[in-house]
Order: sequence, then structure tokens, then C-alpha cells
Amino acid sequence: MLEKQISELQAATLVRIGAARSPEDLESVRVDVLGRKGVLALISKDMGKLATEERARAGKLLNQAKNDLESLILAAQNKFSAQKMAARLDEEWIDVTLPAPGPRPGSLHPITQIQMEIEDLFVSLGFMVLDGPEVETEYHNFDALNIPPEHPARDAQDTFWLTNGNLLRTHTSPVQVRGMERCSPPLRMIAPGRAFRNESVDASHEHTFYQLEGMMIDRDVSVAHLLYFMKTLLAEIFRREVTVRLRPGFFPFVEPGFELDIQCVICGGSGCPVCKQSGWVELLPCGLVNPNVLRISGIDPEKWNGFAFGLGLTRLVMMRYGIDDIRLLQSGDLRFLQQF
Ligand code: FA5
Repeated sequence: MLEKQISELQAATLVRIGAARSPEDLESVRVDVLGRKGVLALISKDMGKLATEERARAGKLLNQAKNDLESLILAAQNKFSAQKMAARLDEEWIDVTLPAPGPRPGSLHPITQIQMEIEDLFVSLGFMVLDGPEVETEYHNFDALNIPPEHPARDAQDTFWLTNGNLLRTHTSPVQVRGMERCSPPLRMIAPGRAFRNESVDASHEHTFYQLEGMMIDRDVSVAHLLYFMKTLLAEIFRREVTVRLRPGFFPFVEPGFELDIQCVICGGSGCPVCKQSGWVELLPCGLVNPNVLRISGIDPEKWNGFAFGLGLTRLVMMRYGIDDIRLLQSGDLRFLQQF
């Protein structure tokens, strides 16, 4: 009786295994037959009713059937795994004889590109390119530039102060001081680099932005020299007519000082968030070096004078490419960067 039951179960299970189309189908066969509440478990429950010798023989038979069915299901499962692996190998097949794709070159950041253009221009005009530290002393960032102790720029709202009394430079002008400390006049230098200000960010203000400082010290340097260099710089960068205006500007390290603004390229002067609706963008403050600044760095103002400027490099890049939000430049967004 039991033998018949088992052989029928084996036959039926074989049919179901043969019909299984997926590992899930097989799993349900396994649960139905070998599971805790499966057919074999039910049969073995009935064994209690059998006589002792009868029970031993039946137990053996059942175990044998269980092992056989387990092996059959496992073999079928392995077949599915092998098929899956073969399909994956087919899919991931690589032709190693194909020629390699060429390298995908990156590109320089637009700020770096313009910085390099300006460096080339000034080097061709006899200027050297200097680098200075981004963590500066209060002396180089303020004192040596004739900025008095009570000047608002020293306020914590404008300056990132470090706990040791140093600061993140608020402009590239301290590199002027370092240039004068190292080199005696005549002196022509530019210094591109990052500046940091503790201020709120908007379409035209970043806490971290690029400036490009310039300084020329020689004999009898005049405002005419300054204007010549500024015009040459703008003509080279924009290579087209741009409207600029010059107005008086006050910086303790220049006298006289000027603000050179550019008509906003984004709105054409009609007003937008970049120019704060004024139609003009502050770009290139400049002036003749204050004699005090020369004296502090050991240069005799009776013999030497000069001009200095502090180009807002990040804003210049915005004007050159018509970028209407300064935050895009440091966003790291590839969709933006791939355009350059
Ligand atoms: C200065 O930093 C002076 N050191 C410039 C200078 C040098 C004047 C030499 C005279 C002689 P100012 O704070 O205006 O000046 O900044 C210079 C330029 O940096 C601005 O015209 C503007 O283009 C840019 N700039 C200033 N603040 C920001 C900011 N938060 N985000 C982006 N650009 C800025």
C-alpha cells in the first residue's frame, strides 16, 4: 500500500519537475512534496498506525523516496542556474579584439581658461605671475595694505577668521605685499587666486570666488598707464566692443582709486539679478598705489610709484560667457561644465 503511494508520488513529482519552467515553479514542487506540510510529511504521519516491523520497512522506503526526490529537484535547480549563467555570459560577452575607444579628454574649467588667457597676455607685457597663500596673516591681508584696524572689512561678517588669528584672504591684494617684500622695483606682477568672504550668496556673490591681482611699480607711472593696461586687458578678453564706465572708488591701498564697471552682458544694461537691476557689474577696481603701501613694504615712494588692480575674475568669466548665476561656476554640474 505504502509502496504504491510512494511510487505514485515519485511519478507525479517527476512530471511536475519536467513541467517546471522556472526556479520558482521548482520551489513550489519542493514545498508541496518535501515541505513541513508536504505530501511526504503527511504519509509519514500515517506510519504510526503500522506494526513495528512494518514501520521500520516503511521508514526506510520513505527516507529513500525523500532522498531521491530531493536529488531530482536539486538537479533540476542546478540546470536552471546553469542556464541563467549561460544567458548572462552571452549577454556580457566582450569582443576583446575590438579596438579600444579613444580617451575621453576632459576640459579646463572656464575660470582656468580665462585665467590662462590673462596670464599669457600679462606675461607678454613683461609681468611675472605670483602665487600667494590662501590662509593669510592679518598683516598681509589688512595692515600692510594701509587698511586701518577699525575698517569694516575686518569685521567677522566679511572675513573668515581662524582661531589662531590668521584668516582666509578676503582678496588677492596681500600677494602685492608679498611681491614687494621679495622683489625690488621695477616690478610687474599679477596674482590670480581664490578669495573668501563671509557674505550671503546670490546670483553675483559667492563666499569663494576668483580674483586676479595686478601691480606695476616703476618710475613715473600714471593713470594713463593704468588705463592703457586695463583697456588692453578687456579688449583681449572680450574681443568685441563692451561698454565700460570709470568712477571714483575708495580703497585704502590706492590713491586715487577707481571702480571700472562693465555694462551687464546678461541684460544688456536693462537690469537683472546679476547686476542687481543697476545695468552695471563691478569688475575691475584699480588705482595708483598709495605711497604708504610702498613705504610699509620698504619701497621708497619718492623714487617709485605704481598702479594696482583687483579684477573680479569669476565675474569676468560670467560676462564673457553670459552666465547668469555665479553659483553655476562652482556647482560641479557636468551639464554646465561640458559646454566649455
Ligand atoms: C578688492 O577686493 C580690492 N582688493 C581690489 C583692488 C585691488 C582695488 C588693487 C584696488 C587695487 P573689491 O572688494 O571691490 O575689491 O573686489 C574686487 C572684485 O572682486 C569686485 O569688483 C568683484 O568683481 C569681485 N568680487 C567681490 N566680491 C565678490 C563676491 N562675493 N563674489 C564674486 N565676486 C566678487
